[in-house]
Amino acid sequence: MAESFFSVSFELIPIDRGLPYDLFINSSIIESREKFVRIVRLGDVLSKEDLVRFKTKYHQIYVREVQRSIFLKSLVDLTDDATPEEQPEKGTGENGGEQNKRTPGQAPLKQVSALDIKKTTVLKDSAIHHLETLFDQDPPTEVLSQTIVGCRDVVESMIDVLQDYNIDKLRELIGSLSFHDFYTYDHSINVSMYCILIYRSLNPEASKEEIIQAGMAGLLHDLGKIKIPTEIINNAGKLSDQDFKEIQKHPGFGQDLLLQSDLNLPADLDPALLARAIHEHHENFDGTGYPNKIGGENIHLLARITAIADFFDAITTKRSYHEPLSLEEAIALMKKFEGKKIDPELFHLFLQHAEQLAAKARTNLEFTSEDFDPCQPHRELPLAIARQAAAAKEASSDGKVKAEFPAPQPDDFGQVKVIEPKTAIPQKATFGKVKVLDNGPAKPFKKKAA
Ligand SMILES: [Fe+2]
Ligand SMILES: [Fe+2]
Repeated sequence: MAESFFSVSFELIPIDRGLPYDLFINSSIIESREKFVRIVRLGDVLSKEDLVRFKTKYHQIYVREVQRSIFLKSLVDLTDDATPEEQPEKGTGENGGEQNKRTPGQAPLKQVSALDIKKTTVLKDSAIHHLETLFDQDPPTEVLSQTIVGCRDVVESMIDVLQDYNIDKLRELIGSLSFHDFYTYDHSINVSMYCILIYRSLNPEASKEEIIQAGMAGLLHDLGKIKIPTEIINNAGKLSDQDFKEIQKHPGFGQDLLLQSDLNLPADLDPALLARAIHEHHENFDGTGYPNKIGGENIHLLARITAIADFFDAITTKRSYHEPLSLEEAIALMKKFEGKKIDPELFHLFLQHAEQLAAKARTNLEFTSEDFDPCQPHRELPLAIARQAAAAKEASSDGKVKAEFPAPQPDDFGQVKVIEPKTAIPQKATFGKVKVLDNGPAKPFKKKAA
């Protein structure tokens, strides 16, 4: 079988030190008959001038697929010496134009460097490359093992690239990345990045092994969808009851895939722990989720972290078919689900990243349905403006009643409709105690005895 190669950006090649991999070009001019020729050997040292010369001479350079993980590791040591003109302009990302909009009083933009965008793009492409081998098929265990190992390498490098990131800056970074047509890929990768940050906040002393497991729980949380027909998982419209029942099988399918006895994984991945996190990511904190309706701390910590990352990404990341909520609106909306869908104390920890915004976060948006599924694409977010707030807005225009807070413009989210106010959702949960805010040690991962 012919050896595989992947293309790499010139800007991501290390200079003035031994190259940790070989570099190739495709010397064939016939599209279907690639012929790769090595131009730089592992260990050779390139200068900045060499790279400039390569850039003018070669259309594209390549690395062997078997050296992908070495390439990903090498990204971490690259420093940002990009020239000022290489820095991203506000709103130049594919969806940055909208996400970078700021109104007076909002937090200033945190600059995400052009190099970080390039690094993350490579990592994201690598994750998609691995995941693509799984979807739409029933993979043999060996292929599944290789995919999980490849994903693990991506997560490990991601942890280093996101070293100095907080939630808000990560949201900016995600807003600068291009997105894939297949919702599940983008969403899984974003969720993985948020899980890494949330877990690190929860336990700043966490070992890399623990953070890798958290990132892997996020990346693989929807793995079970490989066993569900693509037309159902890509359906951004209203699902039939039968299709929804089918979707609800994916946590169980994901668990089964991880618990195959002959899975061959590195020692720092615990398949039983990942299987549990995957299986429980749709359980709600109040015990109303699926598949087993467990609640509180009976839901594994990594599943509770994934649920927050899952929810946040679904409503804050622009898709090709709907606009995202602002950070303030997203936080305010999620607050309505504290103790219900999500773990309140973990959510408070999450909010520490956006404290300034969280303090004033309010919204009169409600979901039109209580069972919003963050794992599923939505042609439009199922949101509505509560009537009470809409009435307040109307009244404030003639000066009779002052609105407590400004209602969003009806055109903010496509087809937003006015609904009757719902029964109040408890703002502060009183059940479940996660020891995350007292600086006490977080629950360590315990590998189960074989
Ligand atoms: Fe899911
Ligand atoms: Fe999800």
